[in-house]
Amino acid sequence: MCGIVGYIGKRPATDILLDGLRRLEYRGYDSAGMAVVHDGDIRTAKSVGRVANLAQAVGQSRPSGTVGIAHTRWATHGVPSDENAHPHVDCQGGIAVVHNGIIENWETLRRGLESRGHVFRSQTDTEVLAHLIEEYASRLTLKDALAAALKDVIGTFGLALVSAAEPRRIYVARRGSPIVLGLGPKGDEFYVASDPSALVAYTRDVVYLDDDELAVLSDVGVETTTLDLVHREKPITKIDWTMEEIERGRFPHFMAKEIFEQPAVAANVVRGRLDAAGGRAVLGGLASVDERLRKIERITIIGCGSAAHAGLVGEYMIEEYAEVPVEVQLASEYRYRRTVLDPEKEAVVAVSQSGETADTLGALREAKARGALTLGIVNAVGSTVARETDAGVFIHAGPEIAVASTKAFLGQVIAFSLLSLHLGRQRRMSAQVGERLVAELHALPQKIEKILQQDAKIRALARKYSGYGGMLYLGRRYNAPVAAEGALKLKEIAYVHAEGYAAGEMKHGPIALLDRSFPVVALATKDGVYAKMRSNLEEVRARQAPILAVVSEGDEEVLRLADDVIAVPRTIEMLSPILNVIPLQLFAYHMAVARGLDPDKPRNLAKSVTVE
Ligand code: G6P
Repeated sequence: MCGIVGYIGKRPATDILLDGLRRLEYRGYDSAGMAVVHDGDIRTAKSVGRVANLAQAVGQSRPSGTVGIAHTRWATHGVPSDENAHPHVDCQGGIAVVHNGIIENWETLRRGLESRGHVFRSQTDTEVLAHLIEEYASRLTLKDALAAALKDVIGTFGLALVSAAEPRRIYVARRGSPIVLGLGPKGDEFYVASDPSALVAYTRDVVYLDDDELAVLSDVGVETTTLDLVHREKPITKIDWTMEEIERGRFPHFMAKEIFEQPAVAANVVRGRLDAAGGRAVLGGLASVDERLRKIERITIIGCGSAAHAGLVGEYMIEEYAEVPVEVQLASEYRYRRTVLDPEKEAVVAVSQSGETADTLGALREAKARGALTLGIVNAVGSTVARETDAGVFIHAGPEIAVASTKAFLGQVIAFSLLSLHLGRQRRMSAQVGERLVAELHALPQKIEKILQQDAKIRALARKYSGYGGMLYLGRRYNAPVAAEGALKLKEIAYVHAEGYAAGEMKHGPIALLDRSFPVVALATKDGVYAKMRSNLEEVRARQAPILAVVSEGDEEVLRLADDVIAVPRTIEMLSPILNVIPLQLFAYHMAVARGLDPDKPRNLAKSVTVE
């Protein structure tokens, strides 16, 4: 969840490292640092706070060395401070390490190293790596020392290392935390990063390291091995993102840009995948497992955060349209439950924007080890979830930079509708129902566009509601998970306590919170549970809580009950979450801005959570 970037080549490393860090800042942003090899010396600079502070700290005195590594941090061990920022160096200052992940046995290792005279400067788990490698390097080559040190380590790492002893090399290794290598177009520059978005400005040719692999970058190339130093040939992958996709453009924040990209995302997810005449979804990524899918009698969906909410919408979709029982489990719980799994009959679907979330990966591996068919609904092509699942559906949403997921959630929900259509047509869904669904999917981008046109109105509403300290979000059936997603958006970026509830549950607790000072955000579009939802709103009204409702265009009845409404176009109930979530995203975004917060970088959060 922190960001790593490294460079070896002909140009001064500092600017490339700072640029890479800025692009990775969304991964962690409590402190940043870099180490550049300069005249056989390691020069480090660190700064608490944003990358801009580091750039200032580096200032005019920037070293001109052409080899370096850098890091932007999201604290796990030790408070955010200059000392705890990476890189961490050994006693002599000759080895510098940046690291993502967690060294679980760091305390034991540190005690041992201290008893043998090593002096520590930080409270981090990472610093033990620098000292441990230093110790082994007194009798082994650096490469062997790194391999030996990593054998002593329990935990996860994506790391990069430079050393004064081998000034024209960067060593990297991976277990659990992603590492990608970039190959410069002329063959004389090489990069390392924790995420390809740091590399797009420089190269499109990348090599993804797998777990338990090590690589050495030098002036002439990249050499990959296992952690036991057995040679590994690795395929080169092309990144297909454009620079525009990773830049903010005319938008004040990435989150706004990503919300406004959703008409394009809705078109991209279904592009080439809908057979209108046959009422079918054509999912090339599932072709290899189609026969097995026919026999599936149960599906478990795993994910975290917004991805888990998308899974909950998927649960309603698959059960209604494909008649396959579905259970959604938080990935962090799945691993530690005694789940009953029949490998012949069960598919496990991992949902993840990044494809790198540690809990999702852990759960996926557990399911795989037990023989289940594993599928991925993933955005990041080349990510670990994408590579480790048997088959899957990419959502093609493009890079998502803002910490709070918006377009990826939308893409995931649409991917679930495609999966439901596919499974449904393999089973008992009629061609007619399939055709209707295909037509509705095609109509989504235009409808999303219509909602986005209400941005100014939603901004005004956000200002009106920005003073409240808490809110209750309500929805039923397909929109119960949307209520949870709307509440999550509000709490994560606007820091307003919000709870998402299935509206029927309101009377079993949350109603006690309601009074004039506690607004309700209601999803009350015209669907199969509309009448029930209206009754719930009457109950809210009776407690004098302000109501902001998302309603169907032309609906007069809710207008009478609510203080404020946002109207969305009609669609079939199954797809209503895709439209209904958009006003809630915009509302949370404008609430954050109205409250003077940076929606792209909410406190304490990180985009890609690669620790458990
Ligand atoms: C973090 C992000 C969320 C995201 C969740 C799962 O908490 O802030 O926006 O939904 O991780 O991430 P994934 O990459 O697996 O979808």
